[in-house]
Amino acid sequence: MITVIDGPAGSGKSSTARAVADKLDIEYLDSGALYRTVTLLYLQAGRDKTVFFQLLDQAKISFRYCDRQFHVAVDDAAVTDRIRTPEVAEHVSEVAALPRVRTFVNHLMREAVKDGIYIAEGRDLGTAVFPDADLKFFMSADIEERARRRYNERKPDNPALSLEEVRRNIQQRDLKDANREADPLKRAEDAIEINTTNLSFEQQVDQICLYISD
Ligand code: CDP
Repeated sequence: MITVIDGPAGSGKSSTARAVADKLDIEYLDSGALYRTVTLLYLQAGRDKTVFFQLLDQAKISFRYCDRQFHVAVDDAAVTDRIRTPEVAEHVSEVAALPRVRTFVNHLMREAVKDGIYIAEGRDLGTAVFPDADLKFFMSADIEERARRRYNERKPDNPALSLEEVRRNIQQRDLKDANREADPLKRAEDAIEINTTNLSFEQQVDQICLYISD
């Protein structure tokens, strides 16, 4: 069984999906973390696509959810802490727009969910990756609210971060994610829309848990 949550940056998908996974004791899959991991390889390749595709062909990417964190490793070396840097955030949407990258990440995800009960979150899971998902949600929220949430989340680890910088990054990514040719950010027609601007975190989590348990 698989439940998917799609939506733009800062809409609350990851924190909500993790809380749902913990509450219902199911597996959690963070597709954005996989795109961020692949972006690390792109940066490692000096942004040279030929070298990058070679690295992509050779790399073994593994992941698991435990202790409330989605852990990712490349060739068994943990990269979980390295995928959230501003540099990765700046390049991830351009890397995620490459069809070869999408095929690679989609394959990883489809293989992973063959065993177990999952809640997965991303941009195109309900439309392109898991069109037959048992339940689909699309989370949205006002841009100001999304920027504020992301800023509060990242500020403790990045004291130099400004709210304006966060808002700009989110807006640029939204634009790239929604307008790319390959599998753009899009609400599936059969997705249940949840606007989280005025919802408390507990309300978001409870709404989704109710649907899954129904
Ligand atoms: O957490 P946040 O919403 O900032 O982003 P993320 O979920 O970590 O995803 C990072 C980036 O990966 C997005 O901005 C997209 O460019 C890309 N992505 C995608 O193209 N398709 C997905 N299913 C998930 C993420």
